[in-house]
Parts: sequence; C-alpha cells; structure tokens
Amino acid sequence: MQRTIAVLPGDGIGREVMREAVRVVKYVADKFGHEFKISEGYAGGAAYEKYGSHLPKETLDLCQESDAILFGSVGGPISEMNEPKWKDCERNSILTLRKHFNFAVNLRPAKVYPGMASISPIRADIVAKGVDMLIVRELLGDAYFGRHEEGVRDGVRFAQDESEYTEDQVRTAAHAGFKSARLRRKKLTSVDKANVLTASRLWRTVVKEVSSEYPDVELEDMLVDNCAMQLIKDPSQFDVIVTSNMFGDILSDASAALPGSLGLCASASLTDGGFGLFEPPGGSAQDIAGKGVANPIAQILSAALLLRYSFGLETEAQAIEEAVERSLQAGYRTSDIYVNLDDTANDTSKPLLRWTEKLVGTEGMTDAILAELENLDSKNSPKKGKEKSLAQAKK
Ligand code: IPM
Ligand code: MG
Repeated sequence: MQRTIAVLPGDGIGREVMREAVRVVKYVADKFGHEFKISEGYAGGAAYEKYGSHLPKETLDLCQESDAILFGSVGGPISEMNEPKWKDCERNSILTLRKHFNFAVNLRPAKVYPGMASISPIRADIVAKGVDMLIVRELLGDAYFGRHEEGVRDGVRFAQDESEYTEDQVRTAAHAGFKSARLRRKKLTSVDKANVLTASRLWRTVVKEVSSEYPDVELEDMLVDNCAMQLIKDPSQFDVIVTSNMFGDILSDASAALPGSLGLCASASLTDGGFGLFEPPGGSAQDIAGKGVANPIAQILSAALLLRYSFGLETEAQAIEEAVERSLQAGYRTSDIYVNLDDTANDTSKPLLRWTEKLVGTEGMTDAILAELENLDSKNSPKKGKEKSLAQAKK
C-alpha cells in the first residue's frame, strides 16, 4: 500500500516522541511491504517561530495533500503562556485543524494492560474487575467553538464562552458511539449535565432517538459529575462513553489516568470519510522536554490508530499494540510509569517489581517495542490467532 502521512511534531516532548513513532511506522512499513511517504510540517510554537503563525498555510496544504495526519503536541510552558509565541497556541493550531478538516469525533481508548495493575493509581481489586473503555468525544461543538467574548460591563470585567449544540452534531457523535459499542461489549453510556444545561437536554433527547437504530446496544444516561466519580470507583462498568467536547476533554484525562499515565493513551480524530488526525491526548509537557525521558507509547499507539482507521491496516495496528503490550509486560518502564523500588520494598502486594522493572528513556522504550515487533511471529506467541494473520500479511 502506498500512502502519505503528514507528521506534525509540534512543541515540547512532541518532537522527541514523534521521532520514535516515525521509527515504528517505518519499521512496520518495511515489515509489511508498504510505502509510506512521511512529510514533516510545523505546528504550534515551532511554527510560530518559523512562520509567525501557529498553523501556517504550508502546514494546512501539507495536511490537505496527505492521507492522514500524525500530530504530536503543542503549547508552551505555563509561565510563558502570555508571550506571543504561546498565546492562544492550542486554539490557533489544534482547534483550527479540527475545525478545518471537520474532525467531528474523537476516540480515546483507555485500558489497564494485563499484569500492569501495579502502575494504576487505583486499588488492585478495582482494577482486577477489568478496565477497558473507549471515550467517544464530540469535537466541534460546545464552548470550544462558541463565541468568546470579554469586556467590562458597568465597571465589572466579564468573560463569556458560548456553548451550543445542534442536533446534527449530537447525532454524529451518537452514531459514532453506538457503532463503536457494537464492535465492543455493546454498552453505551451517554454523559451529560441534563439536570442543569439546555444543550445537555438536547444531547440526551437526540442520543435516545438515535438509539432506536441500535437495539442491540444497551444505552444508559449518566450525569457528568457522577461519571467522574464512577470512573474512579468502578471503571469496569464502562464500555463506550459518548459525551460532549468539554466533558470529553475532562473525562478522557481521568480515564487516561487509570492505566497509570497519560503517556500510555492514544487518540483518533475522524471525519465521516476516514480521514483522520492522530495524537496523544497529553500535552507538550515542557517540564520534561529535551531530557529524553518522555514516554513515546502514546505517540506510537496514535500511529497504530492511524494505520487502523485511516489506512484500514488492522493487522499492522494490532502488531504495534501487541508489541507495546509485550514490552510493558517485559518490564520496560519510562519514568512516568516506573514504580520506585525503594517505595515498594515493604509492599508485599508488589513482590515481582523488584525483578522485572527496567527504567528506560524515550529511545530505550521504542527499542524494546521494536524488538517485540521483530519477535512477534516467534513460535512461543500466546496469541495464535494474531500470529497467523501476521504471517499471512507478510506473504
Ligand atoms: C486535548 C487537549 C486539547 C483539548 C487542548 C490542547 C486544546 O486538552 O486534546 O484533550 O482541550 O481538546
Ligand atoms: Mg485534554
């Protein structure tokens, strides 16, 4: 298969983790006989430095000409938020890209990997019930894209962000939610704040209407404050969550904490036609940028989602996901998911960590994943089904 990928590393750790994701994409292309043309463009503060714009025309053109976009992270240090290079950087770059290409839904999977309960911040008996969910976030409505206004009224400063939903926007998100649930455990939780917000009432009504087309999927409504609590108390109850832009932003960070780190979670923003932008939901993490310690997994898994959703390469996507899972099970840990042995020395619930954990940097983690990719078709694989499809794909 021949395809072009626009790669926009952005700022902060974006550059470091993107380098690693590109290594993995190139390796997979080689292994499975594809030709991916990778063209790099500028976004965020990096683009501002070169072009004086957070999203220059050159970058938009590059994306337009490509079959998919692999995005890193944008944004500056909090302390420099008001400098021209960083002011409104996220709004101008990533939000403009979402709007320009009509990326109406955003998929954010979160799961605790087998054998990885020790790095989850929640209790082992809660994790043991199984944490494997997908948040479907509406991406073009809500306060994100409403009118923003600030000023002074009667001598008092005010600021306002208008939040609106149309039934079409809700319907698009609802269909994505139901379709995703159909491919999983067939349970959809629609999250809103219908006890207070008018837009949430419309949301709830439209989701219910759409549900008649998916009688095989169980639908439940949940208020967002309760959902935040349930995500921590009993995340096993969730299969697919569908929710509005702002609630999805917040809840997806909460769900991403469950596996142990935002650095383990990927996301896919999609149009109706399969064109997509794939990015880690974590930020540019300027505090650790340039140190070679950032976790590349979120970026690598975002590349896997790109292969799955934009190119339809399910086997290749699964190969990457499996290699990531195995490298974690083999004990490779970047610092965000490393459990300090000194802290666990007296903790009898974590006896194995002493033997299995290996602290690695950004590059070392990728090396481990590439090594697992290389080994995937070894005879000892526990996942025979996938091995078969891997072998077939190589022919
Ligand atoms: C995300 C991010 C963005 C968002 C920011 C950077 C604008 O937090 O993708 O979750 O709020 O959508
Ligand atoms: Mg966010």
